[in-house]
Amino acid sequence: MGFDPKAIRKIAINTGGGDAPGLNAVIRAATLAALHNGWDVWGIRYGYRGLLDGADPRDLVQLTADAVRGITHRGGSVLGTANKGNPFEFPMMEADGSVVVIDRSDEVMRNFERLGFDALICIGGDGSLRIAHQFVDKGMPIVGVPKTIDNDLSGTVITFGFDTAISNACDAIDKLHTTAESHERVFVVELMGRYAGFIALNAGVSGSADAILIPEIPFDLNKVAEKIRQREAAGRHFSIVVVAEGAKPKGGELTVQGPKEAGREVLLGGIAQRVAVELGKLTGKETRSLVLGHVQRGGSPTAWDRLLGLRFGAAAVRALEQGDINVMVALDPPTVKTIPLTQAIERMKSVPLDSDTVLTARALGICLGD
Ligand code: F6P
Repeated sequence: MGFDPKAIRKIAINTGGGDAPGLNAVIRAATLAALHNGWDVWGIRYGYRGLLDGADPRDLVQLTADAVRGITHRGGSVLGTANKGNPFEFPMMEADGSVVVIDRSDEVMRNFERLGFDALICIGGDGSLRIAHQFVDKGMPIVGVPKTIDNDLSGTVITFGFDTAISNACDAIDKLHTTAESHERVFVVELMGRYAGFIALNAGVSGSADAILIPEIPFDLNKVAEKIRQREAAGRHFSIVVVAEGAKPKGGELTVQGPKEAGREVLLGGIAQRVAVELGKLTGKETRSLVLGHVQRGGSPTAWDRLLGLRFGAAAVRALEQGDINVMVALDPPTVKTIPLTQAIERMKSVPLDSDTVLTARALGICLGD
């Protein structure tokens, strides 16, 4: 039988993957819009955890107007989130300590139906929306909401969380300027973004970095060293280099924190330290590195991310009302539209090399390592 929007009585909402500022705004708008339609709304805590057999009943929470009061400005997710525990590749510890990966998706489907849910609003990034798509194939009606600080989801002009991340990163770069200048040092700051350079590029340009290294442009550190020498010659005895965690040298490899764990993405990290050591050798300058890390996605969402989150949450409920399922809401200014979930996950978005921001960086004399 087809999906009948008029028959919706009860929906679920979950948040998956790394948290992103604005998640609570989506939850609030989706909840209030759904309540307005007379639907019951439930939050599944920690991704799909509340739908696994033997789940703690506290991992399912009823979302009332009271439950979502005063959360728009709060970072994180009131539902909790998880970037491990994909039900299709669920890691289970054996008695001997080894980890086996099993498929628990049927449990999720069974419990979803048993609890009488008519649809799921799934707020997530690339990984979570891929999982959502697998559940669509099993018959779960889903509307996705694009979340990620990395902004690497195609089909939407921007994801919520990104604006806060670049504001946090820009703020950190501003702070590094004063200490770098006082000590005449080179600072290499590593920013998140996984395989896309949006955070590094946008925060780096806004924060007046001298060099920005992104995954889309494999770098040559001789070019960066040359830029630092030019600044020295011009009397600027400090420099700020922004490096995306997924950036790699020409012909080189990604820097990772360790081997990939079962059922989760490999953790990138450590490139700033490598770059700093190398630049120290090439320039003879005192060089320091830091990894900004999760500060980028912590704290209150910016006004933009709040508004976008609220718009996405309300649009997700509108999509359900219209029977528009197995889609993702997407920003297509001036409006929010829906696109098929398949389109949203078919390819990762990366920084276009001819984009206005890349051209702006070059026009400002920022070295991009090429
Ligand atoms: O995808 C969001 C993100 O913050 C990436 O930028 C980063 O590589 C990753 O998540 C970090 O993951 P975790 O929260 O598991 O450390």
